[in-house]
Amino acid sequence: MPHFGDVQFEIYLRGMAGERPALPITATALEAAAREVLTPEAFGYVAGSAGLERTAAANLTAFDRWDIVPRMLRAVTERDLSTEVLGTRMPAPVMLAPVGVLSIVHPEAERAVARAAASLGVPMVLSTAASTALEDVAAELAAGADPQGQAGQGWFQLYWPKDRDVAASLVHRAEAAGFRAIVVTLDTWLLAWRPRDLAQAYLPFLQGQGVANYFSDPAFRAGLAVPPEQDHNAAVLHWSQMFGNPGLSWADLAWLREQTSLPILVKGVCHTDDARAAIDAGVDGIVVSNHGGRQVDGARPALDCLPEVVAVCDGLPVLFDSGIRGGSDILKAVALGARAVLVGRPWVYGLALGGADGVRHVLRCLLGELDLSLALTGHAAIGTVGRDVVVPAL
Ligand code: FNR
Repeated sequence: MPHFGDVQFEIYLRGMAGERPALPITATALEAAAREVLTPEAFGYVAGSAGLERTAAANLTAFDRWDIVPRMLRAVTERDLSTEVLGTRMPAPVMLAPVGVLSIVHPEAERAVARAAASLGVPMVLSTAASTALEDVAAELAAGADPQGQAGQGWFQLYWPKDRDVAASLVHRAEAAGFRAIVVTLDTWLLAWRPRDLAQAYLPFLQGQGVANYFSDPAFRAGLAVPPEQDHNAAVLHWSQMFGNPGLSWADLAWLREQTSLPILVKGVCHTDDARAAIDAGVDGIVVSNHGGRQVDGARPALDCLPEVVAVCDGLPVLFDSGIRGGSDILKAVALGARAVLVGRPWVYGLALGGADGVRHVLRCLLGELDLSLALTGHAAIGTVGRDVVVPAL
């Protein structure tokens, strides 16, 4: 039976013929290589975070505070990394985090990402701020198939706009297009202070990037005097006035619940009281995340929040992102209670460097390292990875 870890041997075998991997292996090297191919503005937008970027850095070092304790002689020849979250089956507890504005990274943007994700069976969470209309991404996912012949799967991330008609329309469209869950991002009702973008006076949305889901939306278009094709600037202005919704409160989730029969997750929860409020509001899952440090500089590293949130969630699926850079990070997050992780920046760099192949490369490396780390830790199934796999580092 093939395993994700086989990618390692594939690389070594090619090495015997004098071949080297076309793209870097580590997240750090991917970022450095992507810097060379992206415009300074695009690179700053992707790599940058809020303020002095202390939280972005702390998200990574938080993993150093946990050590994995490998166990021996536990028969791990056959391994099963697969899992299911809210009805979505996946070959490993790994999904693609929602990342907007991908047209600044690669001309094929979300279409390339969907192809890569589908080819591996890894679910993709599509951003509201995508550069490609959600129906087109859904078609790309549906056209792809993993080695088991299963079509690509997607969840839809919602930036809840001020205009309720637009919010409802986006959710209805996502459900009709075949997305299997709605992930409501709670932490971005305002754009944060991001010095790299400020220094370059760069906000891609104002250039009409990352607005495809709005410009294609009937409710959004109904609010315009003339269609975006006739007055682009007026449409962008209209977008800027509705994008963030600082007036939302937990009570509003009841309205969202009525709009869809899909599972609803909330992304950006870091406090146990917020987790309790989300549960009381009837959500189906929680994503512990600080948006990769892109919103509040000085915010607590997301990994530090994970065990506490899991503890109050009483079995409700808790997912995690912000700082996943390697397979052992995934193992640690799962050991600390994450049902799955969302990978962010590393695959965006892969997209910059090689389009769909680049995303595929990054995912295969992550899954390969996860598989090998799992096996070398003494586990034949991801489901047996529990809190006992890690100890606080001394
Ligand atoms: C994001 N993220 C994000 N989140 C979201 O809910 N909707 C979005 O449109 C975006 N867009 C976006 C763009 C870029 C360039 C980045 C880097 C991130 C946040 C993303 O889903 C995830 O929370 C972080 O990427 C996790 O942090 P790391 O692991 O990438 O550092």
